[in-house]
Amino acid sequence: MKFFIDTANLDQIREANDLGVLDGVTTNPSLMAKEGIKGKEAIFQHYKTICEMVDGPISAEVLGTTFDEIVAEGKELAAIHPNIVVKVPMIKDGIKAIKWFTDNDIQTNCTLVFSAGQAILAAKAGATFVSPFLGRIDDSGWDGVQLIEEIVQIYNAQGYMTEVLAASIRNPLHIVRCASAGADVCTCPLSSILGLLKHPLTDLGLQQFLKDAQSMK
Ligand code: G3P
Repeated sequence: MKFFIDTANLDQIREANDLGVLDGVTTNPSLMAKEGIKGKEAIFQHYKTICEMVDGPISAEVLGTTFDEIVAEGKELAAIHPNIVVKVPMIKDGIKAIKWFTDNDIQTNCTLVFSAGQAILAAKAGATFVSPFLGRIDDSGWDGVQLIEEIVQIYNAQGYMTEVLAASIRNPLHIVRCASAGADVCTCPLSSILGLLKHPLTDLGLQQFLKDAQSMK
């Protein structure tokens, strides 16, 4: 399973990248706005900077919602860097646009996916990635990982090439469960990636080893 970081914060991207386990980055308009990025020039420059930092797929989301707007914006985003993946919402015009991008060799990430039916449509349109938002599903009292399992099963049964990108990750256990469910990618906040490191027995064990190491000097 590949690890993407779900942020537009350059310090966090750098920290995850330095760990050596980062395969890509996903952003969305909320994450970009959180960094105070305003205006087309600044937005494009920010994506360029991220592409120069991380050698892997970088999802950049369109802001338009009509077919023409999505295609025009997606073409411009894709021209920033070969690693840009155009992130498109799961709406009717979005699906049409994903098919257009597929036919024109532009990589896509179909976002805001909350059902297996939506994931089937994204795959039929040829999306490179599909992003089910499992944390938001959990937040509403359903089981997000169950949806990941269902989509993985359908894609395997049908031979769809679209990669299942588990998004809206809230904690390290989500990452572990997505790996077990067969997700191709997990896009996570830095805190969830670093959370995988933690175990009290590791800390206690290391403390003891360091103490014993002192006695050997
Ligand atoms: O980037 C899409 C997704 O990961 C958003 O996560 O935490 O806003 O539900 P969240």
